[in-house]
Amino acid sequence: MEHHRCFYALILTLMSCVQYSLSMERNKDIPTEKLLVLAVATQETDGFHRFMQSANYFKFNVKVLGMGEEWKGGDVGRSIGGGQKVRLLKEAMESLADQEDLVVLFVDSYDLIFAGGPEEIFRKFQKANHKLVFAAEGIIWPDSRLAEKYPSVRNGKRFLNSGGFIGYARYIQKIVNQWDLHDNDDDQLFYTKVYVDPLQREKLNMTLDHKCEIFQNLNGAMDEVLLKFGTERVRVRNTVYNSLPSIIHGNVNTKIYFNYLANYIPNVWNYEQGCTICDQDMVDLSQLKEFPQVTVGIYIEQPNPFLPEFLERFLGLDYPNDKLNVFVHNSEVYHEKHIQKFWEENKDVFRSFKVVGPEENLTQGEARNMGMDLCRKDLSCDYYFSIDADVMLTNRQTIKLLIEQNRKIIGPLVTRHGKLWSNFWGALSLDGYYARSEDYIDIVQGNRVGVWNIPFMAHIYLIKGQTLRNELKNRNVFVLERLDPDMAMCRNARDLTVQRERESPSPESFQMLRPPQGVFMYVTNRHEFGRLISTANYNTSHYNNDLWQIFENPLDWREKYIHPNYTRIFTDNVLEQPCPDVFWFPVLSEKACDELVEEMENYGSWSGGRHKDKRITGGYETVPTDDIHMKQIDFDKEWLHFIREFISPVTLKVFSGYYTKSYAIMNFVVKYTPNRQAYLRPHHDSSTFTINIALNNKGLDFQGGGCRFHRYNCSIESPRKGWSFMHPGRLTHLHEGLPTTNGTRYIAVSFIDP
Ligand SMILES: *[C@@H]1O[C@H](CO)[C@@H](O)[C@H](O)[C@H]1NC(C)=O
Ligand SMILES: *[C@@H]1O[C@H](CO)[C@@H](O)[C@H](O)[C@H]1NC(C)=O
Ligand SMILES: *[C@@H]1O[C@H](CO)[C@@H](O)[C@H](O)[C@H]1NC(C)=O
Ligand SMILES: *[C@@H]1O[C@H](CO)[C@@H](O)[C@H](O)[C@H]1NC(C)=O
Ligand SMILES: *[C@@H]1O[C@H](CO)[C@@H](O)[C@H](O)[C@H]1NC(C)=O
Ligand SMILES: *[C@@H]1O[C@H](CO)[C@@H](O)[C@H](O)[C@H]1NC(C)=O
Repeated sequence: MEHHRCFYALILTLMSCVQYSLSMERNKDIPTEKLLVLAVATQETDGFHRFMQSANYFKFNVKVLGMGEEWKGGDVGRSIGGGQKVRLLKEAMESLADQEDLVVLFVDSYDLIFAGGPEEIFRKFQKANHKLVFAAEGIIWPDSRLAEKYPSVRNGKRFLNSGGFIGYARYIQKIVNQWDLHDNDDDQLFYTKVYVDPLQREKLNMTLDHKCEIFQNLNGAMDEVLLKFGTERVRVRNTVYNSLPSIIHGNVNTKIYFNYLANYIPNVWNYEQGCTICDQDMVDLSQLKEFPQVTVGIYIEQPNPFLPEFLERFLGLDYPNDKLNVFVHNSEVYHEKHIQKFWEENKDVFRSFKVVGPEENLTQGEARNMGMDLCRKDLSCDYYFSIDADVMLTNRQTIKLLIEQNRKIIGPLVTRHGKLWSNFWGALSLDGYYARSEDYIDIVQGNRVGVWNIPFMAHIYLIKGQTLRNELKNRNVFVLERLDPDMAMCRNARDLTVQRERESPSPESFQMLRPPQGVFMYVTNRHEFGRLISTANYNTSHYNNDLWQIFENPLDWREKYIHPNYTRIFTDNVLEQPCPDVFWFPVLSEKACDELVEEMENYGSWSGGRHKDKRITGGYETVPTDDIHMKQIDFDKEWLHFIREFISPVTLKVFSGYYTKSYAIMNFVVKYTPNRQAYLRPHHDSSTFTINIALNNKGLDFQGGGCRFHRYNCSIESPRKGWSFMHPGRLTHLHEGLPTTNGTRYIAVSFIDP
């Protein structure tokens, strides 16, 4: 095979063939076992694990220097640092330099991954034809006065970066042996000074990787690179030099973009296999003697629609209650009645239960910190699970699934129904706010499934207790500058240095080497977890305010207020015809009926069934009922929308070919009771068709009642709560309301298409 290719190459150009066999020759001279990767890491951070994962993927031979040592390589309050790395390398080289043909690749680890393997790097190193090759970048650092001493480069990056270099062991030793500075002195400055000295440069046979063949530093180069998906692997292409760099370095403040790239490279996710690392390092809950202890923080920080449903879903989560410590912060007086009920019904259910109400006057940040602290300070707390009341969890396994994924911080993806709005951001704008990553829509829509390292999340997440007690210890992570608490938390987690950085906010502070402590935040979309509801425009001035949410939160409205068997009208023909052209079907839920009645009774101004009626045009009603119009409680827009959404499809089914305009002026709730109005005399309705929904139960709430259609000598005497009649209004369907003999009967009526 090789000869074959060589033969053709020979025919094409003799030169290239010679080069090819030479490099084959060299590969034999120096097998890739002779490539040793030396990396510095003082702690096993998330970044370090990611680095090792990429190294193991390519089977690099890696030796880690400095693990467990205290980091002294520069305080972030200063602008330079990294000397510790040189010192560690110098120590390591003492025992390596006598290996004649050993090639050493020295790299940072926390913010660096491999995109290519040892053979590839070897080949590129040999092609560079120097004894020492350093990474290059377009930005000079730390001493810009040295710029003019740099050799000029026609095409390529001119300046040295010390985040990665490769060379023969002897030559590396020659350079690091010159080090006699302190751990907090600057490594890059040290190597730069060697490089810009023409004598040294020649003696050490030293060059830079100007065209990013091996090393891609992202600082100043983010718009040069693109993800390139292959069938086996994902890499980065440098579009300026048309190179496929083997090592990607998220230096300086390119971490977020780097994290995005590292969600794919080298083979974390690709189109063929999807997520290849998602099942690694999972926690197997079935192997544990007992379930981990979880402290749950529930936050109600604004008026929140569907709160009782939220609490119900929370209670329905599949996790042992005796392993849950529950903390609730409610900042809304309006919700006290809901929380009171929740507390009374569940106060003995959990391992512990604490509620902090609006009277404590806590800011959101204080409240969130209080909940988080309960876990942080309790050594038996294994996980802290924070959930805001606008997250409707539909997956009962959520807590278990998150624990199993085994990350320090992880949130489940939840989105606003049918919208691109979600609980995470894929990127940040320059000022730290929302920006859309290239993959955001694919992740939200589930076209790419995996566990994603992202810069911001909110509403719901799980944090390991250990992480709170280590990386996130001793601080209120929800307070940072003027950021809102979620943004403060995420920035604190991403970059635990910011607080100190703030103390000396020189522009250089962004350039320096950061201590290795950032915690990765992940969002997983490996399962359906639930959705976010909208808390905007939630008007709490009514009695049952969720009734008004049909526009803002249509899905939750439907789940709460539409009869569970409604869809079976269309699938199983759950629809009756008790009298000719009188159709009868389930439409409203128990809750809808009860809340509508409560709302009307709360409003209280029943018309009294008089002929004179100022509410209608003309002011005179020939067949008056004792009623309240939907308009009077400001519910007419919502009610008409309900008719459009839920009545029109039934109309089309039973009166096929008739498309209702779903227009109605007369929409009202009628009250029949023996000592006020008990019945209604025979009449026609001023409608094309009428709906008449029973709002309570015969036998339970009232006796008597029903409806009689004269033309057909047909009565329906046992109305069902939540079921609606639908019948033509004029000509054929003269009807009357049969007397209610005891109790109170309520119906909701609309005259549609008058
Ligand atoms: C560097 O070393 C290579 C051999 O490894 C040699 O071919 C080249 O001429 C040297 N370059 C300099 C500038 O000494
Ligand atoms: C709660 O805080 C607000 C604003 O900080 C203040 O105006 C109010 O008096 C406080 N109420 C109580 C009961 O402390
Ligand atoms: C809330 O509803 C009430 C009653 O319908 C209305 O008067 C008020 O303007 C509404 N408030 C807002 C902010 O929409
Ligand atoms: C829905 O229909 C099923 C089957 O007919 C019935 O058992 C169930 O009670 C109905 N649900 C309600 C809420 O009426
Ligand atoms: C109407 O129906 C009832 C029984 O449902 C029957 O007794 C009565 O005779 C019928 N009336 C007429 C006019 O058909
Ligand atoms: C009328 O209803 C009340 C309660 O709703 C009940 O106590 C009473 O027995 C009922 N009377 C008749 C005659 O059904």
